[in-house]
Amino acid sequence: MGLTRLRGFQDLIGPDARAVGIVEHCARTVAERYSISEIRIPLLERLELYQRSTGDTSDVVEKQMYAFADRDEAQTTLALRPEGTPGVVRAYIDAGLDRSDPEQRFYYYGPMFRRERPQKGRFRQFNQFGVEIFGRADAACDAELMIMVDEFRRELGLDVEFEINSLGDANCRSAFRQALLEWGRAHLDQMCEDCHQRLERNPLRLLDCKNDVKLAQTAPRSSDYLCDPCRKHFGTVEELLTKASVPYVVNPRLVRGLDYYTRTTFEAISKAVGAQSAVVAGGRYDGLVEALGGAAVAGTGFAIGVERIALALETSRFKIDGAPDVAIIAMGDRATVCAMDLAKALRAIALRVEMLSPERGLKALLRRADKLGARYALIMGENELTRGVVQVRDLKASTQREIASNAVAAEIAAGSTN
Ligand code: HAM
Repeated sequence: MGLTRLRGFQDLIGPDARAVGIVEHCARTVAERYSISEIRIPLLERLELYQRSTGDTSDVVEKQMYAFADRDEAQTTLALRPEGTPGVVRAYIDAGLDRSDPEQRFYYYGPMFRRERPQKGRFRQFNQFGVEIFGRADAACDAELMIMVDEFRRELGLDVEFEINSLGDANCRSAFRQALLEWGRAHLDQMCEDCHQRLERNPLRLLDCKNDVKLAQTAPRSSDYLCDPCRKHFGTVEELLTKASVPYVVNPRLVRGLDYYTRTTFEAISKAVGAQSAVVAGGRYDGLVEALGGAAVAGTGFAIGVERIALALETSRFKIDGAPDVAIIAMGDRATVCAMDLAKALRAIALRVEMLSPERGLKALLRRADKLGARYALIMGENELTRGVVQVRDLKASTQREIASNAVAAEIAAGSTN
């Protein structure tokens, strides 16, 4: 058998890796503007962490985990993380922050693993850029997170629409759950195998079913069961989003596939990535810190599907271009030494510079510079060296000019080479 990559895993090469890097960079820049600090946590945790947070009855834990017994401690089952939220909550509690300094703002970036059926925009290893805020129970915090996602997508030139909903809290959730249970029992004969299981274990998960979307349209809506404080919280979120001109619709059946959500949930939907259209998703999880053994601290957050955003970038006005600004062609050993100096000066003014191999002929190297998409080729040979000049070829305008070596950087920076 050939050593090919595994199904659902990707090698990102050249522009594909660059697109993912652009998404990460943009997300970090925006998060820093919101005074959020980075947290780095392990890829491997106890399976139990996900069973108790993401949820035993969620598709993610039930069907998609990469889990295995630890080598020397076979009683411990480990799992590759399928999402970042549980690990961040665990780290927050482990560090004692839930009691010593509960208000915290974290972001993280890295790979997640889910053994899903691969398709466009759905992989078994993918990257998330996530944000988790602790100690803020107010609606303004939920709205601010969506405003932040909106800022991020605008910077990348992407169109998205937000779908939002409220799932209620510990007070009003049970009435919604009961309504779903009754609805489920009444329609049991029309439901798939999986839903028969979901009905008794966790009726909320009935709304995750992709088999009969029409039937799900007849299900009870969480918004009809909200208690007054939850209704008020949701009203404030809506008001703040409207004020901030964030485009949203209320989707009363958006329950999200993970068990920890309370009150606000949201997804940002892009039309540019096909069926896997949720490019960002998140919500509030006020009971989770306590459920994992910490203090009663509120939590809210989201995660960006980095590869999905990268796919959407292909259709946006954003340019994913890894071409160098300058390709340097040095003919001979002495010229190579000087060319290195020139490259350093150009890189110091933030230009992207590639030194071409000194082992090929001028014609082949000019073709190479062209293929790379470089804007300029700088040619230095013995003759140029003696006279203290460089041949500067503008590959876009197809013009060439001789410029004094010590003036090249300034002239290229000013775009005044013609
Ligand atoms: P999630 O909806 O499971 O939420 O994932 C968030 C985003 O990750 C999705 O909207 C999607 O863009 C991306 N994603 C999920 N699965 C895949 C996949 N198989 N391939 C490619 N991209 C994928 C969470 O993970 C929560 N932890 C979000 C959160 C943070 N809620 C509160 N805080």
